[in-house]
Amino acid sequence: MASILKFQDMKKLSKGISMVTCYDYWSARIIDGTNIDAILVGDSLAMVMHGHKDTILATVELMCMHVGAVARGAKQKTIIVDMPFLSFRKGLTDSMNSVLRIIQSGAHAIKIEGAKGNLELISHIVESGIPVMGHLGLTPQFVNQLGGFKVQGKQKEEEEEILQSAIALERSGCFAIVLECIPAKLAGVITEKLQIPTIGIGAGPSVSGQVLVLQDMLGMNSGFSPKFLKTYLDGYQMIKNALNDFDEEVKTEKFPLENHCYY
Ligand code: KIV
Repeated sequence: MASILKFQDMKKLSKGISMVTCYDYWSARIIDGTNIDAILVGDSLAMVMHGHKDTILATVELMCMHVGAVARGAKQKTIIVDMPFLSFRKGLTDSMNSVLRIIQSGAHAIKIEGAKGNLELISHIVESGIPVMGHLGLTPQFVNQLGGFKVQGKQKEEEEEILQSAIALERSGCFAIVLECIPAKLAGVITEKLQIPTIGIGAGPSVSGQVLVLQDMLGMNSGFSPKFLKTYLDGYQMIKNALNDFDEEVKTEKFPLENHCYY
């Protein structure tokens, strides 16, 4: 059964936790047959799947639609889902209704960006039986305040604020924290200080695990090459080649052949 409990043990045993984003049924089925430890239905789906310029336009409805598809495809994996922009800042009742809808769509845990103003709600969600993952550093829902998708925690005061936020999130009951685009040294300090695991993206190696956006690590997002990203496939070119091969075979009557026909 999918469970968050193994992540704490993995940190204790220094076993790296692997997590990728997933937004749909067919990639969920592929991931389900791999050794990847967890799936994140990130609100990055607003950008990756729907072509928006940031994650602000993700809604609870949209997240739930994608979570349902992922849950139908990945029966073995722990599915963590982003609470979209402002869905957890609307007072206790509305926020809990949003959490409920996401959990009922198939999530095992939720992720909330930022610490300030969220700690009480996080404790309430955790006390209600729902595991919560924190997210600090570059928090894309704050893009308009941060002035873009920029590395965070480079200044001493920022560094201290991120560290204190991480400690506060752990105290509020988070089972893990995503650290996005912060200096590797700071990520290491936070990971040392906390009992709970840290999952990095652009946060260097001294964390408990790594997360990447599936389409980025498969090289589908052509032209997107931030420093932290490693691509494990040239997916964009491979898919283009396959489509052009199909096109050519249709035009040269090489497909379908006799073995593709019903008799
Ligand atoms: O939305 C997302 O995909 C994320 C990851 C980048 C951590 O939050």
